[in-house]
Amino acid sequence: MTDWQELEEKYLMNTFKRLPVTLVRGQGARVWDDKGKEYLDFVGGLAVNVLGHCHPEITNALAEQARSLIQTSNLVYSVPQIRLAELLIQNSCFDKVFFCNSGAEANEGAVKLARKYGKLHLNGAYEVITAMNSFHGRTLAMVAATGQPKFQQPYTPLPSGFINVEYDSIDAIKAATGKKTCAVMLEAIQGEGGVNIPKEDYLKEVRSWCDEKGILLILDEIQTGMGRTGILFAYQQSGIEPDIMTLAKGLAGGVPIGALLAKERASVFEPGDHGSTFGGNPLSCAVGYATLKYILEHGVVENCRRMGNYLMSCLDSLKSKLDFIVEVRGRGLLVALEFCSDIAEGVVKACLEKGLLLNAVKPSALRFMPPLIIGEREVDEAMGILEKVLAEVSEEAVATRKKE
Ligand SMILES: Cc1ncc(COP(=O)(O)O)c(C=O)c1O
Repeated sequence: MTDWQELEEKYLMNTFKRLPVTLVRGQGARVWDDKGKEYLDFVGGLAVNVLGHCHPEITNALAEQARSLIQTSNLVYSVPQIRLAELLIQNSCFDKVFFCNSGAEANEGAVKLARKYGKLHLNGAYEVITAMNSFHGRTLAMVAATGQPKFQQPYTPLPSGFINVEYDSIDAIKAATGKKTCAVMLEAIQGEGGVNIPKEDYLKEVRSWCDEKGILLILDEIQTGMGRTGILFAYQQSGIEPDIMTLAKGLAGGVPIGALLAKERASVFEPGDHGSTFGGNPLSCAVGYATLKYILEHGVVENCRRMGNYLMSCLDSLKSKLDFIVEVRGRGLLVALEFCSDIAEGVVKACLEKGLLLNAVKPSALRFMPPLIIGEREVDEAMGILEKVLAEVSEEAVATRKKE
């Protein structure tokens, strides 16, 4: 049997700390490895597979579009691109869309748009205030935007024009705002940073401050968008409307795509200002359209909210039994379980052996982001595995304490 993991080491750049598993097939919330072993997938391609693996709506849209037209240039009109844009606009507070291929690219576009706005309306202001512990992508500018030194240090000097301030502090944003500020860019909930949920009024306060100063509010909904937090877009929960929103991950349910949405007043690009060869290609847009339409018409967001509450209640009951769990937090199906020590990686490996895929978002925390279409039985099954693994952790801790 081919040793794919050995070949990976030989041929691929050493950028990912991978789990020791090679997945070859998926269906719904389940995946199979190259040895035929089955797993429940609570990573979901990192919050991408909103409809699960190989959903017929997605595979049909993909096959149908592939048979008629895969790629055109943006020198011509493209029907799937226009249809997806229309559906996004009809279901959000925005007026215009630009399509690209990934989250980082969507955020790059958002920052370019804000800088252009600054040139036109804010005397050339170009600085963007972002939050510490945020994650906005891996391009050089987005590494500068991402307020985490571990992603920044290997690549200094970074592009200028980004100020990283404390998350969930309106005072920090106020203190950093100056004549050069054109925008504030935030995640509605910090995903990669550990599923950090801000205080209820935070986004409202930021919105008011941006209005007072005439600067733009960019919301990065790459992880929180497309129903993930139990509502189509997380901004709808916080009672505000951003000027610009970025999407990627779940937008086409697993096919690469990114998008940047803006209110009319912020939509200041003109021909030649921005572009992308593959951005808005018929294939990803046709799948994006099918995915969003399915989400809207089949109660996917409602299921996410219900299953999210159910998952949180199961995790809460684990917390009441195990003293090394310190917090359960999340919204919809973006949930974290925080331990009192750095045991998350060990728990992920033990769960993997027992057939459950999980993510250690931090050394001390697990993240759950299963497909939004999962059912109660799948949550129960995952909880059964996790409970067994945590019971073993608990027994080991007791044994270690006894030895000491
Ligand atoms: C909030 C947020 N923004 C941006 C990105 C970057 O997206 P991509 O990896 O598609 O470039 C991510 C990826 O995890 C994300 O969670």
